[in-house]
Amino acid sequence: MMTNAMVAVTRKIEYLASRNKLIYGISALYYRSIVENEVKLAGITPADQVLCIGGGPCPFTGILIHRLTGARVTIVDNDYNCVLCARHLIAGLGLDQHLKVIYADGKDIEVDCYSVIHLALQVAPFEEVFMELERKCRQGTRLLVRLPKKTARPFYSHEGGVFFSDCRYAVHGKSKNVAGTALYIKAGSNYEKSGSVYNVDNRTCYSHAAV
Ligand SMILES: C[S@@+](CC[C@H](N)C(=O)[O-])C[C@H]1O[C@@H](n2cnc3c(N)ncnc32)[C@H](O)[C@@H]1O
Repeated sequence: MMTNAMVAVTRKIEYLASRNKLIYGISALYYRSIVENEVKLAGITPADQVLCIGGGPCPFTGILIHRLTGARVTIVDNDYNCVLCARHLIAGLGLDQHLKVIYADGKDIEVDCYSVIHLALQVAPFEEVFMELERKCRQGTRLLVRLPKKTARPFYSHEGGVFFSDCRYAVHGKSKNVAGTALYIKAGSNYEKSGSVYNVDNRTCYSHAAV
C-alpha cells in the first residue's frame, strides 16, 4: 500500500519534471551524485551495454549513465504511459540514438546482451525480478541494486536482505531515500579476469569491477 503511494508520488513529480525544465533540473540534481557513485562502483565504460529496470516518466538514471560514460542504455518500464513520456523526453533531448525505452516487465526481458543491469529502488516485486534477472544474465554481469535507507524501507518492495551482504557497496548522501547501491556480480566458473578485461564464454567483456 505504502509502496504504491511512493511510486505514485515519484511518478507525479517525474511527469511534472518531463514538462518543466526547472523541475527537471532540480530532480536530475538529486540523481546525479547517486549515478556518479554507481558508475564508479561498476566501472561503466562506453563499451558496456546497460539495462535500467524501472525508468519512470523521466529516466534520469539511464540518461545520466549515458551522459557520464557514453554507454548505450536500454530502459524498461511496465507502465505504458511512463514509457511514452520517457520516449518523448529522450527524443526531445536528442538522445534516441543512444537510449531506447521498452515497455515490459523487468523480469521478462532477455538480458544476455547486457553487461550492466541497474535496478531502481521502486522495482517490484523486487525479489522475483532480481532473481529472474540473476538467473538469466551471463556470468560476469554487474547488477547495480539500489537499497532504501532504514526509515524509507516501508515504502519499498525490498530491504536488500541476504543477496547483498557480501557485495561492494556505494553509500549515498544522508538526504537521499537511497541509502546505497550494491554491486552484485554474477558468478560463474568459466570466466577469466585479466586487468579490466575478461572473457565470458569466448566473448570479451570490459569491467573495472571486482569479480
Ligand atoms: C518512478 S521510477 C523511478 C526511477 C527513476 N526515474 C530513475 O531514473 O532512477 C520507478 C519505475 O519503476 C517501474 N517499475 C516498478 N517495477 C517494475 C518492474 N517489475 N518492471 C518494470 N518496471 C517497473 C514503475 O512503473 C516506475 O515507473
